[in-house]
Amino acid sequence: MQTSIDPAAMGKVAVLCGGRSAERDVSIMSGNGVLKALRAVGVDAHAFDPAQRPLDDLVREGFERAFVALHGRYGEDGTVQGALELLGVPYTGSGVMASAIAMDKVYAKRIWMTHGLATPAFALARSAQQLVDAAARLGLPMAVKPSREGSTIGFTKLLSLDAATAAFDAARAHDADVLCEEFVDGRELTVAVLGSGSEARALPIIEIVAPQGNYDYRNKYFTDDTRYECPARLDAALAGRIRDLSLAAYRALACEGWGRVDVMLRRGDDEPLLLEVNTSPGMTGHSLVPMAARAVGISYEELCLRILASASLKIGVPD
Ligand SMILES: Nc1ncnc2c1ncn2[C@@H]1O[C@H](COP(=O)(O)OP(=O)(O)O)[C@@H](O)[C@H]1O
Ligand SMILES: [Mg+2]
Repeated sequence: MQTSIDPAAMGKVAVLCGGRSAERDVSIMSGNGVLKALRAVGVDAHAFDPAQRPLDDLVREGFERAFVALHGRYGEDGTVQGALELLGVPYTGSGVMASAIAMDKVYAKRIWMTHGLATPAFALARSAQQLVDAAARLGLPMAVKPSREGSTIGFTKLLSLDAATAAFDAARAHDADVLCEEFVDGRELTVAVLGSGSEARALPIIEIVAPQGNYDYRNKYFTDDTRYECPARLDAALAGRIRDLSLAAYRALACEGWGRVDVMLRRGDDEPLLLEVNTSPGMTGHSLVPMAARAVGISYEELCLRILASASLKIGVPD
């Protein structure tokens, strides 16, 4: 599938990657992939690491667009998006508000609940005692994770209250807000979305089959033990429901450009439950949005170009 985007019309492009978050290394891998792809199709693209130079170099050096390949804090959470708005440099992906809300799993869940979109029951813990109280309500096992982190960093499947303090501390090391969630035993799915508002479309669903169901940082990026099925083996009606739920979750947070919605499909009742939306998903060789795009005939290069072409400023009144 080819589009008619003229690479030369993209102007001088900065691929923002690296940054200061715990996901810096992954971001460098994403950025290298994007950079290579954009250059291969003739875009004047350059790597730009906001941890190593001031962002206003973008203006000084005449960059016309930014491809945000940063992940996590200061990259995916609305802060860099706000800076780009102030500098007037059009950028890929979601705006300030959607990025900030999607980064904060607790806030995202609150919004989904007001829209009647299914997400696991949860509690916010600011102490180990509050985590124990949450377990009394949510039961064991319980998922414990930092509200604003990614790549499964700080995540614990809490099996026994003996490990409550350790689980709290592991999440608390990354965020003051510790999210306790009903643990969903079931299939792990992810749904890539391209586009904005009513134009947003879900790509084929991916199922992630990790060793012992343990889709952790290692299995995400560094092993070949995790299997991916795309499209996931689901009957058409259920797949349709999951894609609709994912699109509704993306739109409810006012996400733009592209993103990826993580969903658990509960064993027993086949209920899909929303975990999170990633507004700057991974773009490494192992990454999932490129995999879903490939399944509908969109090459990695084409995907990068399409995302780049959707770069915009989101604040202010359109011309
Ligand atoms: N409530 C839950 N039930 C079961 N597994 C979960 C739950 N929350 C998280 N997980 C597991 O942890 C992984 C990371 O959680 P997620 O909410 O997607 O955060 P992030 O990817 O930002 O670290 C998921 O891919 C899933 O394997
Ligand atoms: Mg996730």
